[in-house]
Amino acid sequence: MLILGIETSCDETSVACVENGTNILSVVTATQISTHEKYGGVVPEIASRLHAETLESVTASALKDAGVKLENIDYIAATNGPGLLGSLLVGITFANALALSKNKRCIGINHLEAHIFSVFMEFSELKPPVIALLVSGGHTVIVKMDDFGKFLTIGHTLDDAAGESFDKISFLLGLGYPGGPVIQNVSRNGDREAFKFPRAMMDHKRKYDFSFSGLKTSVINKVRSINATPENMEMKMKADIAASFQEAVVDVLLHKTISAAEEYKVSTVILAGGVAANSRLRQKMKDAGNSKGINVLWPSLKLCGDNGAMIAGLGFKKTEFAVEHIDDVSAVRNL
Ligand code: KG4
Ligand code: ZN
Repeated sequence: MLILGIETSCDETSVACVENGTNILSVVTATQISTHEKYGGVVPEIASRLHAETLESVTASALKDAGVKLENIDYIAATNGPGLLGSLLVGITFANALALSKNKRCIGINHLEAHIFSVFMEFSELKPPVIALLVSGGHTVIVKMDDFGKFLTIGHTLDDAAGESFDKISFLLGLGYPGGPVIQNVSRNGDREAFKFPRAMMDHKRKYDFSFSGLKTSVINKVRSINATPENMEMKMKADIAASFQEAVVDVLLHKTISAAEEYKVSTVILAGGVAANSRLRQKMKDAGNSKGINVLWPSLKLCGDNGAMIAGLGFKKTEFAVEHIDDVSAVRNL
């Protein structure tokens, strides 16, 4: 079965052609990073305009790379939430128009569920239940997945998302956008213990919820206290701040995720979303998992960020359920 997956929820226009849920025939992604980077984050109105401009050619390239004609596609899957409203509308309107023109059916896909599903695409032996840590630019959630389509959210951020905090601190240090990869790289030359930034809500009664705004304020105060600006700050100082900040984020994500796996007696933890690309997070989570008998898995780098392949993959999975449970892409959902 061939599924075309369309992802436009944020700043990547990505289309993929996937066979039988796991065989990725093509993924074409037009990133908008160079446009948004001067603002230090995604500008929603610009994002939707760029999706509208590029979606048709990205789709044509994805079909061409896969060697597949639109006529031969079985279903068109498109992200219908959560995400930027205008960007989602561009994607689902395009998907519906494409489907109408060729008498195909559309499948609406939840972006967060697709990030989680990306791990199942690469580990065929992986089966629920799992504890999933979903960390991206817009979300930070711990989810217990009992089965496909059966999720229990056990914790989420009360303010900034983990990826968002990387982006904001990177902007503060003048390191560029997106912040995650650059903070990770700069941190390699820094001392993770140079500054003791706060690890919020570690033993709080809402023990699986997160808060990153206090950490952000603490880093801002540190920078102010030394009268630093991105221009006058030495690279060693930037590296020390970046490394100490990253360590604080990773410690919180690690502590809460592993605690959730222990409390709910689930022996597999999966990481998903853009921040799952972070090498320090992966390493510390793996080490903690090894010492506690918990299997820790994450998707390859190409499936960590937003991509059409995870949308098509989950689209295939949905076709295995009863047809009436397939969510058409008639409207934006879950906002
Ligand atoms: O999942 P994603 O591509 O888009 C959303 O759905 O938000 O995640 C993007 C986020 C950005 O905030 C980016 O800074 C972060 O993921 N990110 C990272 C790394 N690579 C991307 N954060 C930490 N370390 C990384 N290596
Ligand atoms: Zn995402």
